[in-house]
Amino acid sequence: MITFNVAPFIGTEIEYIKDAVERQHICGDGKYTKLCDQWMEDRFQANKVLLTTSGSSALDMAALLCGLQPGDEVILPSFTFSSTANSFVMAGAKLVFVDIRPDTMNMDETKIEAAITDRTRVIVPVHYAGVACEMDTIMDIAQRHHLLVVEDAAQGVMSTYKGRALGTIGDFGCYSFHETKNYSMGEGGAIVINRPEMVEKAEILREKGTNRSKFFRGQVDKYTWVDYGDSFLPSELNAAYLWAQLEKADEINHDRLTSWNHYYEGLLPLANKGLIRLPTVPAECGHNAHMFYIKTNDLNERTALITFLKDRGITSVFHYIPLHSAPAGERFGRFSGADEYTTAESNKLTRLPMYYGLTRAETESVVEAVTAFYGKSHDKGKSC
Ligand SMILES: Cc1ncc(COP(=O)(O)O)c(C=O)c1O
Repeated sequence: MITFNVAPFIGTEIEYIKDAVERQHICGDGKYTKLCDQWMEDRFQANKVLLTTSGSSALDMAALLCGLQPGDEVILPSFTFSSTANSFVMAGAKLVFVDIRPDTMNMDETKIEAAITDRTRVIVPVHYAGVACEMDTIMDIAQRHHLLVVEDAAQGVMSTYKGRALGTIGDFGCYSFHETKNYSMGEGGAIVINRPEMVEKAEILREKGTNRSKFFRGQVDKYTWVDYGDSFLPSELNAAYLWAQLEKADEINHDRLTSWNHYYEGLLPLANKGLIRLPTVPAECGHNAHMFYIKTNDLNERTALITFLKDRGITSVFHYIPLHSAPAGERFGRFSGADEYTTAESNKLTRLPMYYGLTRAETESVVEAVTAFYGKSHDKGKSC
């Protein structure tokens, strides 16, 4: 059996959780939350990072910090997880979906300007598979049209664009530490606040609308309710789990990249024969091997491949049903321009097992099984 995902586990997690319990500080913003926030600020050269209860809640915070008004519009790809859209719907905005590029599956930066109206306020690039969107172009468009940029870097922790950490380029960046991500705290995430003037508002929003963060820093002598807020602060137990992995972030990253490269090299012969397509990583992107996907020729071939792998004990999965064709997407948004690639390319994509600790023997078995599938369908003289 080769499962699709195994939650990352380094070994020191239990020790750190025990320490948090013994310190009698298991709510948020204790030793481990601070260690994680500080590590990300240092490592990613980020202005301010705050751990949150999920990647979704980091996006909620970002959407609220954008100060949207009902009827404002937000531009995002349709090929993404529902959370990218939910936060902006919650903030009262209308969604405007743009097509993706077939090479990276990221929002097509050349389609953004045509989607801008006088109600547009925010662009949300989603760095799919931890490979960066074309951020120079997106930031230039945002600047010229006075728009905010919220990077959905849920999959992009430890990835870079032209040497800059994903999440630190737009006005806000959002990370996920869900158990399916490269670094995990079970459920969790973080918001990167790249605008210094928004930090205090973000702290208040995260702490139930109070200025408790200032109080703990000794900047006010009592704390009180000062604005709208919610509870976006994770427990120290989750932060302790994450800290174990951030300490070993390079080791985890290296391990995943090694598996990614094995897949790439092993499947290159099939790609060279034109039987499958492999992921593209543009030269300016440093990726984190969040996922390894291949693209089949069409939906039927993908369904047959997933079944073939499943029969050999290998779990492979597909996603996303494009948001604009989902019931909520139809209700809350519209597609700008033509859907040239979003639906067609998402129908072809299959994700192979990828996690910290995946062995060479396992990636080889997966490569052999995919190769056998195409050998079989080729022998029959059809694409399957
Ligand atoms: C692109 C994207 N955005 C947002 C999220 C939401 O993150 P979380 O599951 O931590 O809420 C995910 C997680 O799967 C994601 O992949």
